[in-house]
Order: sequence, then C-alpha cells, then structure tokens
Amino acid sequence: MHILFVSSEFHPHAKSGGLADAVAALAKALVKRGHRVTVVLPRYASVETTAFTDLRIPVGVPLGYREEWIGVFQGAHDGVELYLIDHEALLARPGIYGPSASSAYEDNLRRFSLLSRGALQIAMALGWSPRIIHSHDWPTALTPLFHRAFYGETSLAGAGTVFSIHNFGYQGWYPARDAENTGLSSQQLDEAGLVAEGEVNLVRGALRTAGRIVAVSPRYAREIQTAPYGFGLQGEAAGRADHLRGILNGIDDEEWDPETDRSIAANFSRHDLSGKGVCKRTLQHEFGLPRNEEIPLVGMVTRLTEQKGIGALFGPGHGSLYRVCTELPLQFVFLGSGEVWCEEEIRKLAERLPNFSAIIGYDHALAHRIEAGCDFFLMPSTYEPCGLNQMYAMRYGTIPIVTATGGLADTVDEETGFLIRRYSPEGIFLALHEAVRTFLNRKDRIRRMQDLGMSRDFRWDGSAAAYEDVYRELITPNG
Ligand code: ADP
Ligand code: GLC
Repeated sequence: MHILFVSSEFHPHAKSGGLADAVAALAKALVKRGHRVTVVLPRYASVETTAFTDLRIPVGVPLGYREEWIGVFQGAHDGVELYLIDHEALLARPGIYGPSASSAYEDNLRRFSLLSRGALQIAMALGWSPRIIHSHDWPTALTPLFHRAFYGETSLAGAGTVFSIHNFGYQGWYPARDAENTGLSSQQLDEAGLVAEGEVNLVRGALRTAGRIVAVSPRYAREIQTAPYGFGLQGEAAGRADHLRGILNGIDDEEWDPETDRSIAANFSRHDLSGKGVCKRTLQHEFGLPRNEEIPLVGMVTRLTEQKGIGALFGPGHGSLYRVCTELPLQFVFLGSGEVWCEEEIRKLAERLPNFSAIIGYDHALAHRIEAGCDFFLMPSTYEPCGLNQMYAMRYGTIPIVTATGGLADTVDEETGFLIRRYSPEGIFLALHEAVRTFLNRKDRIRRMQDLGMSRDFRWDGSAAAYEDVYRELITPNG
C-alpha cells in the first residue's frame, strides 16, 4: 500500500533526536515489507540537496491571511521516496525548531502548519492517492485535521490518518491569536478543540481527528492516559483508548551494528568482544582519560532537557553526578547539548572532576563511539516514551542503567540492565553503585548481561508488522 509520512525530522537529513531515527527506520522497514513509502519533510538550510531534483512546480498552500508558495525537491533514501518542501523564508533556517537546542522560532506555528498542509497539497499536485497518511508528533499534528477539513472531495478522501506520539511533553502550545496561521475557520477550530483557555494545542487536535493514534511503546501508551505523563491531555488520550495503540520502536540494525560500524575503532560481535576493549581504550584517550580497561566506564549521550533526568543528575548543589564521580571508582564520558544552565554546570564539573569528561555539542559518529566503548550507558529519564539509546547500547554490549519508565521499562530488565528504582539523586547514585560493584566483583554476571542484551531482537520488523495492522484496520470497510 502507499503510505504518506509527514515529519519534521528524518535521519540522515534532519535530526534533533530519536524522532529522526524512528521515522526513517520505520519507513525503511515498511519499504522492505513491500510498501511504497513517501516522506515529506522541510528543506532546512542544513539539508544537503545535491542528491535531490528540483521538480520546478510551484505549489500553493493556503494558510489563513496569505497563501504560501512552496517548491518541491525529490530524492530517495533506502528505497523511501523523499520530498522536501522548499520555502526560503519560513523553512530554510539553520535550526529545525529554533536557533539553538534550547530556543524556538517565534513563527513555528506557521512554519509547521506549512509542512502539515503542504504535504497534502504536494500529494494533490503530484496525483498521489495514499491509503494512509501518517504524521508524527506536534509539528505535524495538524495533518489529520487539515485532511478532514479540506480534502473530503479529493483523491485523498479515502486515506486513513494515523498520528504517532513520540513525546507527549511537547504538544505545540501557542497563543490563541496565532490560530489564524492554520487557515482553519473558527468553526473548524472549535470542532477539533484546537483552541481552549486562550491557547492553541496542536496535539489535542490530532487526538480528536486522527483515525488511529500510536504511542511509541506499550507502557507509554498506558502512561499518557494518567496525570503525571499526560501533560494535561490524559483525559483526551483515555477518551481515544479504543483507537490508541502502543508499538515499540525498533532500531535500524544496519546503521547500529558493531560488526560493521565504520565510526568505531574496532568491530566486534557477541561471540568475540575483543574489539570492544579497543573501542574502550580509544574512547578513554579521545576524552583525555587514562586508558584502563579495569575501571568501569559510564557514558551518556543526550539532549539536555528536564525529561532526561538532568535535574537529579546535574542540578547545582543537589545533583548526583559530583557524588557519583567522587565516591565511586569509575570514569564518566558525556556528549550532549541543550539547556544553557546545564551546559554550564557540566563544563564546571568537567573542570573539577578528573574522571568526568564532557563534550558539549552534537556529533553523530561520536555517539556511535560512546555506545561502543563504554561499559554502561546511563539514562535517568523522568519519563521516556521509547528511548533508542538503551537499545543501541545493548546491541553494542553496553549495559544500560535506566529509570523504570515508558519504553525503558519495556526494553530493559534486570537480566540486561540496572534499574533506577526511584527518580532522585540518591536513586541514580544507588543504581550506579550497584553497577560498579557488579563490574568490579562479578565479571561473569556482567558478561552474561552483555550477552543477553546483544542477543535481544530490537529490529523493526515485528513493530512494522504491528503498524501494518493499524493501517489495515483503517482501510478495511468495517475498520
Ligand atoms: P530523544 O529522542 O528523546 O532525544 P532517543 O533515545 O529516542 O531520545 O534518541 C536520541 C537519539 O539522538 C539517539 O540516536 C542519540 O544518539 C541522538 N543524540 C542525542 N543527542 C546527541 C548528541 N549530542 N550528539 C549525537 N547524537 C545525539
Ligand atoms: C522522542 C522520545 C523518545 C523516542 C523518540 C523516537 O524523542 O523522547 O523516547 O525514542 O521520540 O520515537
């Protein structure tokens, strides 16, 4: 079947986090299963277009007070058809969501309305009749609503709509006065419940209009129906429980494969881990730490936002990182960027602590080297819809230390990782303490955990089949 994806991220062209990986790998897995998958995403300034063809067809996108005109670039990746929306003023900016990892562009409502509606206008202009229109997270939450409001009499009318929730903590909140950027009439806005209490909430509109809703892990699908995880929309999510499914993300096992990965110092496998030792020593050297295989090496690669546990780990005065690095015999390497206070705190800690080394920034190849070279990978998230890093870690024989929440709880157990039982500085310290003690005293247990983690099947295939079931429910007459 022909499936149209609308997304703000797609690896390797535009990535801020796991959304890019998940969308690209699901698209690729669906193509492998025999489907035609077309992805529409923006041409940000950072997207390299040499491998794309400019179709030279101007497409109009009605958006409230003004129609915007977009250009269209066509390309492909791993058998997936890619179409880029070209709009110099609104989309061709250096950042995806903002000038830095911790700030947003003021006109994001208009920018992502352009993406959400533009994808449907491109589909019309190029004569596509997809069976499914699948959009992802708040930036494309308007797609199902636009589809219902404007395309009833068109070739897109028969398509079913699916909305994936990758992170409910981001819902696309804007002042009500900005709603005119969507081009929806006040009646359409009311029907979709898009504006409430003076505020636009894009995800609420998707929850009310998409044919099916998917959360990125089974546990997260249940969690978002409860207050701590619903960010105000728990009632709406529970109201759609019959049409809400939790499907665990997979990983792209070709891109994340320790046997073939070209970013790492030496390749290795479940049956021969000798290369992992080389990766560890090389990583220690790269981070300016003494090369020593006997000392446990903990790594972390993350966006620096509250969700990732940065309050309990790095919070000035009370965070556990200082205690962890001064009381436990370990080395700690860090890669990430985001909230400014936290970047500053991490720089200070790295100056003071000889066994903590940090790189503030974004570096895809280094992320691979950290996954490969560490003994442990830390994810003390307050909540985690799915999480990909813990699965990458396990594939590379690196034992995850995670909070038991969302997709982390669905993928890591006591056989394959260490669980942070209570999210707090103390809880994080205790989990790391247990991991270090086990590393120093029970090599056999560590080896067994590595082996089990490496043998777990996190490929996309099973999950792509679950998405197919969701799609089929929508396109069968009684679905
Ligand atoms: P989230 O999407 O919430 O950030 P995930 O675990 O699903 O969390 O995915 C994060 C992805 O982003 C992983 O592929 C991770 O390696 C990558 N990533 C995050 N920060 C960085 C960084 N600073 N440099 C390189 N890769 C990063
Ligand atoms: C979001 C979530 C993360 C998930 C990713 C891909 O960014 O925070 O948990 O793995 O999307 O679905």
